[in-house]
Amino acid sequence: MFKNKSKLKIGNLKLASRVLLAPMAGITDYPYRKLYRQFGCKTAFTEMINARSLTHLSKKTMQMLYTDKEDSPLGVQLVGNDPEYITGAIKELHKMDFDFIDLNAGCPVKKVVNNGSGSALLKNPEKLARILKIIKANTDLPVTVKIRTGWNRENKNSAVIAKTLSEAGADAISVHGRTKAEMYRGSVDYQSIKQAVDASSVPVLASGNIFTPQQVKNMFQKTGCAGVLVARGSYGNPCIFNDIHAYLSGKPLPAIRPAAKVGDIMYMHLNYIMDFYGNDPGYKIYRKHINHYTRYFTHAKGLREKVFRSTRPEDIQDIIEEFKETAACYRHPYLASV
Ligand SMILES: Cc1cc2nc3c(=O)[nH]c(=O)nc-3n(C[C@H](O)[C@H](O)[C@H](O)COP(=O)(O)O)c2cc1C
Repeated sequence: MFKNKSKLKIGNLKLASRVLLAPMAGITDYPYRKLYRQFGCKTAFTEMINARSLTHLSKKTMQMLYTDKEDSPLGVQLVGNDPEYITGAIKELHKMDFDFIDLNAGCPVKKVVNNGSGSALLKNPEKLARILKIIKANTDLPVTVKIRTGWNRENKNSAVIAKTLSEAGADAISVHGRTKAEMYRGSVDYQSIKQAVDASSVPVLASGNIFTPQQVKNMFQKTGCAGVLVARGSYGNPCIFNDIHAYLSGKPLPAIRPAAKVGDIMYMHLNYIMDFYGNDPGYKIYRKHINHYTRYFTHAKGLREKVFRSTRPEDIQDIIEEFKETAACYRHPYLASV
């Protein structure tokens, strides 16, 4: 049995689990975290937040920053590279309630990279370390950095970056096991993650293709990482956190998940979203999640088509009701394999 013994510490922050919810723009908003925390997710990150937007707080930015007492521990993720904006952003963050600050050095999106931020920083470890030091000099909160394995296959440098960042004062480093060029496609480079683990004097959290509890165990074993981030594997499956914890401690997983139970979770998620954003646009924001919830059920395809024709919050409620009544029990790939 895999032993998940030692507790994960980020600076002076002790975490209850070594499995965290990864930052995901457009996904890990307050309603998502509120829901997932009820199913075993202990530590989470906000969506990526632009340091410059933090210096003039729009309604959208305030929504992205919203949190409460139960939504903790929580890391707020900043993206940017301008010392002035970063310093201003940290001042604003100190008025709010975050447990740690994460710097994004992995985002591959053109708009971010062209501005010298996100994964563009992988090409310049010294500059990345300078930004980290500015953050550290302006906060007492633990500071983490999320990187990729490098810019492209020819320029993998996770070990150099991990060493540079840990020497510059990072309290933990997350490594997404793909290069910027790979975006989100293909296999994960365990060896580059392991090299970062070996080069770093602080905990390394690993990310990439975590869709099943077995893949979490595999990630720990292959890389020696201190923690694992669950990203797309959390889509439509809040129970994955409880499932991972059960699997790692040798307990059995449920063989099937009834539609009625998943339907109840879908309702909770819809209500959290509508409470937070308002019924409209809430129900529109929710639509993307329904595909994920229903993916592994038979007889649910017709429902998914209805979702995209829906024009009112009540339409979504009707669809969930119909789903609960008509969808057959499903087998998630990992539930089927145990
Ligand atoms: C829709 C989406 C949004 C993401 N947004 C962020 C982000 O804001 N910040 C970040 O550091 N990583 C972001 N990521 C990357 C994830 O945190 C994770 O590292 C990546 O998806 C690899 O894990 P996976 O293969 O298990 O999904 C995002 C990924 C997805 C799919």
